Amino acid sequence: MSFGLTVLGSVNLDLIVQVAGLPRAGETVTGGTYSALPGGKGANVAVAARRLGAETELVAVLGDDDYAAQALVNLKADGVYLDAVKTVDVHTGLAFITVSADGENQIAVASGANAAFTPQHLPKLCSDVLITQFEIPIPVIEAALEGYTGFVAVNASPVTPKVDTILARADLVIVNQGEAESYDLSGRAGLLAITLGGSGAELWKDGELVARAAAPKVDVIDTTGAGDAFAAALTVALAEGQSKQDALEFACAVGGLTTTRLGTQTASPTRAEVDAFLER
Ligand code: RIB
Repeated sequence: MSFGLTVLGSVNLDLIVQVAGLPRAGETVTGGTYSALPGGKGANVAVAARRLGAETELVAVLGDDDYAAQALVNLKADGVYLDAVKTVDVHTGLAFITVSADGENQIAVASGANAAFTPQHLPKLCSDVLITQFEIPIPVIEAALEGYTGFVAVNASPVTPKVDTILARADLVIVNQGEAESYDLSGRAGLLAITLGGSGAELWKDGELVARAAAPKVDVIDTTGAGDAFAAALTVALAEGQSKQDALEFACAVGGLTTTRLGTQTASPTRAEVDAFLER
């Protein structure tokens, strides 16, 4: 089944330091290894969905700087439509990420251009499916959803207040366990996916558990972006018409594979890699 996907969200350049253990508050950890890789939840979802075969456009705002060029590398290489990406006179979003030897991370984001995104930057949206997250201003998402008639997936991350209207409009809400506790999602109408880290994921519909999938056994290098890839994969699989159980297993495979390499987009698997992994 063919469908068009709009990703509305952030673009960052991820400045990554790999260290043995994450620093505690006030602690300095030395001896790290540095990488600068494209990231941002919106861009990560767009690249992940495109690699899984979806015709994907990204609606986002970047700065007019060298960071932007680096942040766009994978989006361009993978063929994500970028006509709706606008430029403002603020630095491109930057994420400062520390990754430990066991793959855990800490992230601090300087939102820059993402925070300067306004409803005036929005194009007319006429895709079949829209997926968004909360790394851009909430009024932009509210404006985008006004009159939008397609399927809406919301990865409600990072945790953000006053998003009830958006969550109510969403056909699919995706959260991790911690995020699930921060919103009132009990008995919500529509689909709700909850990721459980190493324990896999659950899919709920109208308050009833409809699918559960285990996390694949993989050697974890970096968990950053696994949630973005999971969200992209679940949305793509459901839009393709896969059953809820198959879609959840597919999304868990994609999320798991994303943890086996450093970075977010750089770690996002192709459709062929996922199919080969699931056949094994
Ligand atoms: O979800 C991972 C993303 O969060 C990183 O790519 C970083 O840019 C932050 O936005």
